[in-house]
Amino acid sequence: MKIHLQTPQEIRPQIWKELGRASQDRHHEWRTPVLASTDADGLPDARTVVLRQVDALAGQLTFYTDRRSPKVPQLQAQAQAMLVFWSARLSWQLRVRVACTVITAGPEVEALWQGVKQSAAAGDYLSPLPPGAVLTKDSSMTPNAETANGLAPAHHFAVLRAQVLQMDWLELSREGHRRAQLSATTWAWLTP
Ligand SMILES: Cc1cc2nc3c(=O)[nH]c(=O)nc-3n(C[C@H](O)[C@H](O)[C@H](O)COP(=O)(O)O)c2cc1C
Repeated sequence: MKIHLQTPQEIRPQIWKELGRASQDRHHEWRTPVLASTDADGLPDARTVVLRQVDALAGQLTFYTDRRSPKVPQLQAQAQAMLVFWSARLSWQLRVRVACTVITAGPEVEALWQGVKQSAAAGDYLSPLPPGAVLTKDSSMTPNAETANGLAPAHHFAVLRAQVLQMDWLELSREGHRRAQLSATTWAWLTP
Protein backbone atom coordinates (compact mmCIF):
# COMPACT_ATOMS: atom_id res chain seq x y z
CA MET A 1 0.00 0.00 0.00
CA LYS A 2 1.24 3.47 -0.87
CA ILE A 3 1.45 5.91 2.02
CA HIS A 4 0.50 9.42 1.00
CA LEU A 5 3.18 11.80 2.20
CA GLN A 6 1.89 15.33 2.56
CA THR A 7 4.38 17.76 3.98
CA PRO A 8 7.96 18.70 3.04
CA GLN A 9 8.93 17.38 6.50
CA GLU A 10 7.60 13.97 5.46
CA ILE A 11 8.68 13.91 1.82
CA ARG A 12 12.31 15.08 2.19
CA PRO A 13 13.40 12.27 4.56
CA GLN A 14 11.45 9.74 2.47
CA ILE A 15 13.44 10.77 -0.63
CA TRP A 16 16.70 10.16 1.27
CA LYS A 17 15.35 6.88 2.65
CA GLU A 18 14.61 5.64 -0.87
CA LEU A 19 18.08 6.72 -2.03
CA GLY A 20 19.60 4.81 0.90
CA ARG A 21 17.53 1.74 0.06
CA ALA A 22 18.58 1.96 -3.58
CA SER A 23 22.27 1.86 -2.61
CA GLN A 24 21.61 -1.38 -0.66
CA ASP A 25 19.08 -3.12 -2.91
CA ARG A 26 20.13 -4.11 -6.42
CA HIS A 27 16.45 -4.38 -7.46
CA HIS A 28 15.51 -0.85 -6.40
CA GLU A 29 14.77 1.22 -9.51
CA TRP A 30 16.81 4.11 -8.16
CA ARG A 31 19.88 1.86 -8.10
CA THR A 32 20.86 2.89 -11.64
CA PRO A 33 20.38 6.62 -12.29
CA VAL A 34 21.61 8.46 -15.36
CA LEU A 35 24.52 10.82 -14.73
CA ALA A 36 24.66 13.73 -17.17
CA SER A 37 27.81 15.83 -17.49
CA THR A 38 29.24 18.40 -19.89
CA ASP A 39 32.05 17.53 -22.26
CA ALA A 40 35.02 19.67 -23.31
CA ASP A 41 32.97 21.20 -26.17
CA GLY A 42 30.16 22.16 -23.77
CA LEU A 43 27.97 19.38 -25.15
CA PRO A 44 25.87 17.08 -22.96
CA ASP A 45 27.01 13.54 -22.20
CA ALA A 46 25.13 10.98 -20.12
CA ARG A 47 25.43 7.39 -18.92
CA THR A 48 23.95 4.94 -16.44
CA VAL A 49 25.82 4.46 -13.15
CA VAL A 50 25.23 2.35 -10.02
CA LEU A 51 24.45 4.16 -6.76
CA ARG A 52 26.85 2.66 -4.20
CA GLN A 53 26.64 4.76 -1.02
CA VAL A 54 24.29 7.37 0.34
CA ASP A 55 25.06 9.77 3.19
CA ALA A 56 21.87 11.70 3.91
CA LEU A 57 23.46 13.76 6.67
CA ALA A 58 26.34 14.96 4.47
CA GLY A 59 24.08 15.14 1.38
CA GLN A 60 26.43 12.91 -0.61
CA LEU A 61 25.97 10.15 -3.17
CA THR A 62 28.86 7.86 -4.10
CA PHE A 63 29.56 5.97 -7.33
CA TYR A 64 32.45 3.87 -8.60
CA THR A 65 34.16 4.38 -11.91
CA ASP A 66 37.30 3.73 -13.95
CA ARG A 67 39.55 6.74 -13.51
CA ARG A 68 40.49 6.59 -17.22
CA SER A 69 36.87 6.91 -18.36
CA PRO A 70 35.94 10.07 -20.30
CA LYS A 71 33.50 11.21 -17.61
CA VAL A 72 36.42 11.76 -15.21
CA PRO A 73 38.14 14.63 -17.08
CA GLN A 74 34.67 16.00 -17.90
CA LEU A 75 33.77 16.19 -14.21
CA GLN A 76 37.20 17.55 -13.29
CA ALA A 77 36.69 20.41 -15.78
CA GLN A 78 33.01 20.97 -14.90
CA ALA A 79 32.10 19.51 -11.50
CA GLN A 80 28.41 20.29 -11.81
CA ALA A 81 26.36 17.42 -13.15
CA MET A 82 22.81 16.06 -13.06
CA LEU A 83 21.58 12.68 -11.84
CA VAL A 84 18.18 11.48 -13.00
CA PHE A 85 16.34 8.72 -11.12
CA TRP A 86 12.95 7.22 -12.05
CA SER A 87 10.96 4.67 -10.11
CA ALA A 88 7.74 3.27 -11.61
CA ARG A 89 6.93 1.67 -8.23
CA LEU A 90 7.09 5.02 -6.46
CA SER A 91 5.95 7.02 -9.51
CA TRP A 92 8.77 9.33 -8.51
CA GLN A 93 11.29 11.10 -10.72
CA LEU A 94 14.22 12.71 -8.95
CA ARG A 95 16.57 15.08 -10.73
CA VAL A 96 19.58 15.91 -8.60
CA ARG A 97 22.00 18.73 -9.31
CA VAL A 98 25.38 17.73 -7.88
CA ALA A 99 28.97 18.90 -7.62
CA CYS A 100 31.30 15.96 -8.30
CA THR A 101 34.72 15.09 -6.97
CA VAL A 102 36.66 12.17 -8.41
CA ILE A 103 38.94 10.48 -5.90
CA THR A 104 41.55 8.49 -7.80
CA ALA A 105 44.00 7.52 -5.04
CA GLY A 106 44.38 7.36 -1.29
CA PRO A 107 43.16 5.30 1.65
CA GLU A 108 39.43 5.42 0.81
CA VAL A 109 40.01 4.24 -2.77
CA GLU A 110 42.33 1.44 -1.62
CA ALA A 111 39.95 0.32 1.15
CA LEU A 112 36.97 0.13 -1.25
CA TRP A 113 39.12 -1.56 -3.89
CA GLN A 114 39.87 -4.38 -1.39
CA GLY A 115 36.13 -5.19 -1.51
CA VAL A 116 35.57 -4.56 -5.23
CA LYS A 117 38.54 -6.68 -6.28
CA GLN A 118 36.89 -9.76 -4.72
CA SER A 119 33.70 -9.10 -6.70
CA ALA A 120 32.61 -10.00 -10.21
CA ALA A 121 33.11 -6.32 -11.19
CA ALA A 122 36.88 -6.42 -10.53
CA GLY A 123 37.67 -6.99 -14.21
CA ASP A 124 36.00 -3.67 -15.10
CA TYR A 125 38.79 -1.83 -13.30
CA LEU A 126 41.69 -4.01 -14.48
CA SER A 127 41.26 -3.76 -18.24
CA PRO A 128 44.52 -2.73 -19.92
CA LEU A 129 42.57 -0.43 -22.24
CA PRO A 130 40.58 2.58 -21.00
CA PRO A 131 36.77 2.55 -21.30
CA GLY A 132 35.81 3.77 -24.76
CA ALA A 133 39.09 2.74 -26.42
CA VAL A 134 38.51 1.33 -29.89
CA LEU A 135 39.11 -2.42 -30.00
CA THR A 136 41.27 -3.73 -32.78
CA LYS A 137 41.79 -7.42 -33.48
CA ASP A 138 45.18 -7.17 -31.73
CA SER A 139 44.11 -5.21 -28.65
CA SER A 140 41.13 -7.46 -27.96
CA MET A 141 43.45 -10.48 -28.01
CA THR A 142 46.19 -8.96 -25.81
CA PRO A 143 46.15 -10.43 -22.32
CA ASN A 144 46.90 -8.16 -19.38
CA ALA A 145 50.71 -8.20 -19.37
CA GLU A 146 50.94 -8.05 -15.57
CA THR A 147 48.53 -10.96 -15.15
CA ALA A 148 50.61 -12.92 -17.64
CA ASN A 149 53.68 -12.15 -15.51
CA GLY A 150 51.91 -13.36 -12.39
CA LEU A 151 52.01 -9.87 -10.82
CA ALA A 152 48.98 -8.17 -9.24
CA PRO A 153 47.65 -6.01 -12.10
CA ALA A 154 47.28 -2.25 -11.54
CA HIS A 155 43.70 -1.20 -10.97
CA HIS A 156 41.99 1.92 -12.30
CA PHE A 157 39.23 2.00 -9.71
CA ALA A 158 38.08 5.46 -8.60
CA VAL A 159 35.38 6.88 -6.34
CA LEU A 160 33.02 9.51 -7.65
CA ARG A 161 31.51 11.59 -4.87
CA ALA A 162 28.51 13.77 -5.69
CA GLN A 163 27.57 16.54 -3.29
CA VAL A 164 23.86 17.25 -3.62
CA LEU A 165 23.13 20.90 -4.34
CA GLN A 166 19.46 20.79 -5.28
CA MET A 167 16.73 18.28 -6.04
CA ASP A 168 13.70 18.40 -8.30
CA TRP A 169 11.14 15.84 -7.13
CA LEU A 170 8.17 14.90 -9.34
CA GLU A 171 5.41 12.53 -8.31
CA LEU A 172 3.02 11.28 -10.96
CA SER A 173 -0.40 10.45 -9.59
CA ARG A 174 -3.95 10.06 -10.87
CA GLU A 175 -5.08 12.30 -8.00
CA GLY A 176 -2.81 15.04 -9.36
CA HIS A 177 0.92 15.30 -9.98
CA ARG A 178 3.13 17.04 -7.44
CA ARG A 179 6.50 18.65 -7.92
CA ALA A 180 8.94 20.41 -5.63
CA GLN A 181 12.38 21.95 -5.78
CA LEU A 182 14.37 21.39 -2.63
CA SER A 183 17.80 22.01 -1.21
CA ALA A 184 19.11 21.15 2.27
CA THR A 185 17.33 24.19 3.70
CA THR A 186 14.67 25.19 1.17
CA TRP A 187 11.47 23.79 -0.30
CA ALA A 188 9.31 25.23 -3.08
CA TRP A 189 6.24 23.58 -4.60
CA LEU A 190 6.32 23.86 -8.39
CA THR A 191 3.73 23.44 -11.12
CA PRO A 192 4.30 19.86 -12.33
C1 LIG B 1 23.26 -0.85 -15.66
C2 LIG B 1 24.56 -0.14 -15.87
C3 LIG B 1 25.32 0.25 -14.80
C4 LIG B 1 26.53 0.93 -14.97
N1 LIG B 1 27.24 1.33 -13.88
C5 LIG B 1 28.38 2.03 -14.04
C6 LIG B 1 29.07 2.55 -12.90
O1 LIG B 1 28.66 2.37 -11.74
N2 LIG B 1 30.19 3.27 -13.12
C7 LIG B 1 30.66 3.51 -14.37
O2 LIG B 1 31.67 4.18 -14.49
N3 LIG B 1 30.03 3.04 -15.47
C8 LIG B 1 28.90 2.31 -15.32
N4 LIG B 1 28.23 1.83 -16.43
C9 LIG B 1 28.79 2.09 -17.77
C10 LIG B 1 28.50 3.54 -18.15
O3 LIG B 1 27.12 3.66 -18.44
C11 LIG B 1 29.33 4.00 -19.35
O4 LIG B 1 29.07 3.17 -20.46
C12 LIG B 1 30.83 3.98 -19.04
O5 LIG B 1 31.10 4.35 -17.69
C13 LIG B 1 31.60 4.92 -19.95
O6 LIG B 1 31.08 6.21 -19.76
P1 LIG B 1 31.88 7.55 -20.15
O7 LIG B 1 32.47 7.29 -21.51
O8 LIG B 1 30.86 8.63 -20.14
O9 LIG B 1 32.93 7.76 -19.09
C14 LIG B 1 27.01 1.17 -16.28
C15 LIG B 1 26.23 0.78 -17.36
C16 LIG B 1 25.03 0.15 -17.18
C17 LIG B 1 24.23 -0.27 -18.37
